[in-house]
Amino acid sequence: MGKKDFDAYAKNYNAILSEQLNFFEEDNFYFAEYKIAKLKNLISFQPKRILDFGCGIGRSTLFLNQYFPHAQIYGCDISQESLLEAEKTAPSAHFFLTTALSEKPKIFDVIFVSNVFHHIKLSERSKTLDLITQSSATGGVIVVFEHNPYNPVTRHLVNTCPFDHDAVLLRPKELKVLFKKAGVQNISLEYTLFFPAFLKRLRFLEKYLHFLPLGGQYVVSGNL
Ligand SMILES: C[S@@+](CC[C@H](N)C(=O)[O-])C[C@H]1O[C@@H](n2cnc3c(N)ncnc32)[C@H](O)[C@@H]1O
Repeated sequence: MGKKDFDAYAKNYNAILSEQLNFFEEDNFYFAEYKIAKLKNLISFQPKRILDFGCGIGRSTLFLNQYFPHAQIYGCDISQESLLEAEKTAPSAHFFLTTALSEKPKIFDVIFVSNVFHHIKLSERSKTLDLITQSSATGGVIVVFEHNPYNPVTRHLVNTCPFDHDAVLLRPKELKVLFKKAGVQNISLEYTLFFPAFLKRLRFLEKYLHFLPLGGQYVVSGNL
């Protein structure tokens, strides 16, 4: 993908997602909030600074603000147009281009990355993870959500989504190998997003299902 591909989708990103996910979501932000609720469960301390790496138009950043009201929330992306939209979605967060990330070494207690790695070329994934880890405070937590390539519904959605034309999905094992290479410790994997909005009452079951490779996405996390 050319660096600014998501510039072209910044203005209609929500509309495209709505059309794709209307069967699963009762509101356009159901899955975005779901992931931040999951993040909140994964960490056991009050972070001071959280980075939403590859934040796009700020769909998750919005919920980082809501779920972590005492933290400073940052978002970065390579798409300037997406960042302009993100500023409208989550006005109290701080946004910057990813090229400026190396100017912020060791400052983030939590780094959240949602659906970004499958857009990064295979040859650049390791380098990108190194860039991310350098911005983590010692002992910081990194949490990466990715599409689950074992889930046929997910694969169908990716194959039909206009902005996923370049997507190369990663198996959880590949992401864990990248984590190890980058020096991430205590790596853990969970499958998630088993339940669409109309089955949200069943979400409490997710804690018993997280080892089943059937969730719509998976999350790999660890410490730096
Ligand atoms: C599918 S969108 C996900 C946006 C957001 N994380 C979310 O879950 O709503 C992928 C985003 O990753 C960004 N991206 C792709 N390659 C990147 C890179 N190397 N560094 C930072 N962001 C990147 C794109 O510009 C795009 O905004």
